Amino acid sequence: MKRVFLTGASSGIGRAIAERLVGEGHQVWGTSRDTARLPALAHFHPVTLDLTQPSSIEAAFTTAEAEAGTFDGLINNAGGGQFGPAELMEQESLRNDFQLLVFGHIQLMQLALRGMRERQSGTIINVSSLASRLPLPFMASYNAAKAAMALFTMSLRLELEGSGVRVIDLQPADIRTRFNDAVAKFAVDHPAYRRRAQKTWHVADRNMQHAPGPELVARRVAALLNSDNPPPQITVGDFFQARIAPFLIRCLPMRLQLWGIRRYYGI
Ligand SMILES: NC(=O)c1ccc[n+]([C@@H]2O[C@H](COP(=O)([O-])OP(=O)(O)OC[C@H]3O[C@@H](n4cnc5c(N)ncnc54)[C@H](OP(=O)(O)O)[C@@H]3O)[C@@H](O)[C@H]2O)c1
Repeated sequence: MKRVFLTGASSGIGRAIAERLVGEGHQVWGTSRDTARLPALAHFHPVTLDLTQPSSIEAAFTTAEAEAGTFDGLINNAGGGQFGPAELMEQESLRNDFQLLVFGHIQLMQLALRGMRERQSGTIINVSSLASRLPLPFMASYNAAKAAMALFTMSLRLELEGSGVRVIDLQPADIRTRFNDAVAKFAVDHPAYRRRAQKTWHVADRNMQHAPGPELVARRVAALLNSDNPPPQITVGDFFQARIAPFLIRCLPMRLQLWGIRRYYGI
């Protein structure tokens, strides 16, 4: 049985991970900004956490850690994004995205590492995105924040070699969740961008509706938690996005990749 701290357990991928892990007999401390949205499950412990409020993160984690005694796993999964032209993005929104997707989760890693280092064991899984390597149009700050998280994860993996703590960058491709419903749109009606923003959103929404369900990611997370030698990075999604797309990223020059992305979204 493992004790796991999981952010964003109220819906989508996080909820599927929580259900999978408690189903396998693990104990999960799962977070939401509103605990009423969290599942009522045996071995599931609700935690209130808003990652955009840095001052509350340490208190939320240490209270949960005191309850758990120790955490064997940390899964940094919570996230959200904004859709609109990078040129017109507000500075405050940009900072908010990085607080949610990068700084908050780095703070949680540092907090979790105190105990994991001492015990010389633990697994940290950071849910970034395939968008960290293949940018989604009109989601520049999301793409950039996920890329920052992916590289931070690899840096930690290098530094923690021999410590007994394993750090993994898990990159979902399109997964069928309500993620898009929570995406805030801005300046999409600007005449310079309206047509391409509409087309992109249409394709992104259609792809998500036809994507595999979040249980696929939950299965992989459960396997990673139980693995003695997990890979530093994995991509999870349908065959094209999880296997062919990463191969193309490695082989094609950036100019061709950007051309392919424009073709894919019809822009
Ligand atoms: N679905 C995809 O296609 C896809 C692809 C690549 C990567 N991802 C990544 O996978 C992760 C999960 O996404 P999902 O698809 O499962 O989305 P989702 O269903 O919208 O779930 C997002 C979760 O994040 C939490 N969250 C949002 N804002 C938060 C905040 N300020 N503080 C704390 N928690 C917050 C939400 O909890 P509350 O609203 O209850 O607080 C919710 O539990 C995200 O990091 C996302 O970027 C998803």
